[in-house]
Amino acid sequence: MISFEMLSDKNVVDVWMLEKRCFIDPWTIKMFTDELDNKISVYIVARDDQTNSIVAYGGMWLIYDCADITNIAVAPEYRREGLGGRILELLEKIASEHNMTALSLEVRESNLPAIALYQKYGFLKNGLRKGYYKDNENAVLMTKNLKSSDNQ
Ligand SMILES: CC(C)(COP(=O)(O)OP(=O)(O)OC[C@H]1O[C@@H](n2cnc3c(N)ncnc32)[C@H](O)[C@@H]1OP(=O)(O)O)[C@@H](O)C(=O)NCCC(=O)NCCS
Repeated sequence: MISFEMLSDKNVVDVWMLEKRCFIDPWTIKMFTDELDNKISVYIVARDDQTNSIVAYGGMWLIYDCADITNIAVAPEYRREGLGGRILELLEKIASEHNMTALSLEVRESNLPAIALYQKYGFLKNGLRKGYYKDNENAVLMTKNLKSSDNQ
């Protein structure tokens, strides 16, 4: 079974190890430990209870009324099982509870699996940042509007 927990000093090194397996330009361990003290950060971490290993994580910054998804990653051997989607849904739920009006993110133009994931969960492409990444690849901007919990 997969269980979910928040990023903490107990799992931060394992999250970073997972990050290194998932990205060509991974965050450093300091970037993750800094997030532990960042008041606008929310990070959800997925653990496989059988192996007691960290298998996915996703995070966002709550900035004014918009949540900016910083990262989402699933261990290669756990992909296409709905885990990325479950993390996205949990982030959206927390963003709504904080009265965010939208979720936004940047994704590499070549990252078709991630773009497909975001589209499946209602994100729309709404811009392009040319040469956004260190290797000069473009970033696609994607946004999903959220209903304010005041209106529900
Ligand atoms: C992108 C990523 C997080 C998806 O995680 P996942 O757990 O495999 O995603 P899910 O199983 O929840 O997939 C949900 C939907 O996303 C789309 N999708 C996911 N992977 C896909 C792939 N390789 N090809 C095409 N569509 C894909 C599909 O629409 C899928 O729905 P379906 O399985 O019903 O067809 C994962 O591939 C990953 O960690 N990639 C490396 C890190 C990364 O690029 N993160 C995004 C940074 S912006």
